[in-house]
Amino acid sequence: MIITIDGPAAAGKGTLAAALADKFGLAYFDTGMVYRAVGLQMLMQNIALDNDKQAQKLAEELTFPLMMKLSSQALFRSLEGSRAASSVAAMQGVRKALLKMQQDFSLSPVFADGSKAKGAIYDGRDTGTVICPHADVKFFITASPEIRAMRRFKEYQDKGQAADYNEVLAQTKARDERDFSREGSKPAKDAIMFDTSDMSIEEVFAKACRIIEEKL
Ligand code: DC
Repeated sequence: MIITIDGPAAAGKGTLAAALADKFGLAYFDTGMVYRAVGLQMLMQNIALDNDKQAQKLAEELTFPLMMKLSSQALFRSLEGSRAASSVAAMQGVRKALLKMQQDFSLSPVFADGSKAKGAIYDGRDTGTVICPHADVKFFITASPEIRAMRRFKEYQDKGQAADYNEVLAQTKARDERDFSREGSKPAKDAIMFDTSDMSIEEVFAKACRIIEEKL
């Protein structure tokens, strides 16, 4: 079984995906990590964020183990890391280079310890449209920019990272504009839409479980 969850940053995709992966015994692929891994290497190697040739080269050379290794760095999920990821994700050459790696995961999904899983759950922006158009269940999760910015702001605070709410809100809106202006990032025609602005994570999880169980 393949499930996809797409939607804007901080809509609750990751929390929902991890909980569903646990409940249904599925491997989880957070596809934003591929762009974060390329963006982080650009930052670490002092490469300008508009250098698409270098970004594409790093994307072509990216492997799963390297991505996992990079993900342990604090910069990976920081504001700066998010900005870098969003910049490289806007480059067509980068997206093309990272497509196969993301699609191959659905053919032989594995858990973090390398053991085989009977299916996968993806989260990202284009997983139900470009990466896995034949997924069994597709969700598109959203929430207002203000609510999403507040969630991200609290995450930074919990991690002890300095952040300003207005800056996080401005960045959330700028990322929405970049992330959703390209083809493939609109909701799939057969996606089930959730607005989580006024829903608790428990409500979102219960609703998603009912839909998946009906499908099973
Ligand atoms: O989900 P995230 O915040 O970790 O994603 C980081 C960046 O990668 C974000 O700006 C959008 C981009 N992204 C994308 O373009 N396509 C995906 N499938 C996942 C993420």
